[in-house]
Amino acid sequence: MSITNFRTGGAISGAASKVTFQTLQEKKQAQRPICALTAYDYATARLVDEAGVDLILVGDSLAMVVMGYDTTLPVTMDEMLHHTRAVRRAVKRAIVAADMPFGSYHGSVNAAVANAVRFVKEAGAEAVKVEGGAVRCELVERLAGAEIPVIGHLGLTPQSVHRMGGYKVQGKTQAAAEELVRDARMLEAAGAAAIVLEGMPREVAAQITGELRIPTIGIGAGPDCDGQILVFHDLVNLSFSPPAKFVRQYGDAAALFRSAIAGYVRDVEERAFPTEAESYHLPSKASPVAAVTAGLRKA
Ligand code: KIV
Repeated sequence: MSITNFRTGGAISGAASKVTFQTLQEKKQAQRPICALTAYDYATARLVDEAGVDLILVGDSLAMVVMGYDTTLPVTMDEMLHHTRAVRRAVKRAIVAADMPFGSYHGSVNAAVANAVRFVKEAGAEAVKVEGGAVRCELVERLAGAEIPVIGHLGLTPQSVHRMGGYKVQGKTQAAAEELVRDARMLEAAGAAAIVLEGMPREVAAQITGELRIPTIGIGAGPDCDGQILVFHDLVNLSFSPPAKFVRQYGDAAALFRSAIAGYVRDVEERAFPTEAESYHLPSKASPVAAVTAGLRKA
């Protein structure tokens, strides 16, 4: 266990007022870009929040970038709740949204609503995200009716990897593009608070964004969406896979971590760590044996 108390590193200075879905709506109207990012744990969520990101998604990409699975499909409700709680504890300003994992909303609508309620009640999420279009409208309506803001997700929906035959850009034919636009309209009519547009032609995302009143947040959907989202690990080179075309790496955490870990290993092996200054001491003048005996007598 570390003795370092990194939670008391000072109040979040200058934290602007809390972001809400009204804020996102106002940003869309004012054509100010919405900035979203994923996070899965206390430390990174705190950094993301302090940087002024509007919306933090505890994505089911957790399955791949944190847990090492090949797809998002295996992550469970309990695992998503666990990570959402950690993010919740860190975040003061951004909206915290939780991704509903595969299987948690694919059966009855009642069971799906009960699972969504768990994210709000047990983990402090302010919204949930579900993948799919027309097929999700009944659920979106019920969640909106239960006062749970819902974020839709259209295009390359990773939970549909087997149906799509891989992670492929969607909406490339006229018919497929029209279906995406229809799905987006239907999600909005059902009460969705925002929609993630992933892996689709820029032109399709632009048309959806132009038609909808609610904000669109793009990932691999071009620059015309109302906002952008990336997976945190992709942003900082911690994904251990070649970045997709739409990813821009803003830092190299892998290099930073490798160098820090190598330095630690070297110092331990060379007995250069810890030093005298990094050691605790018995009270002055007490000999180790006498002090330990005195301690035992007191106890
Ligand atoms: O799980 C996730 O990280 C996501 C984003 C990529 C939108 O769904």
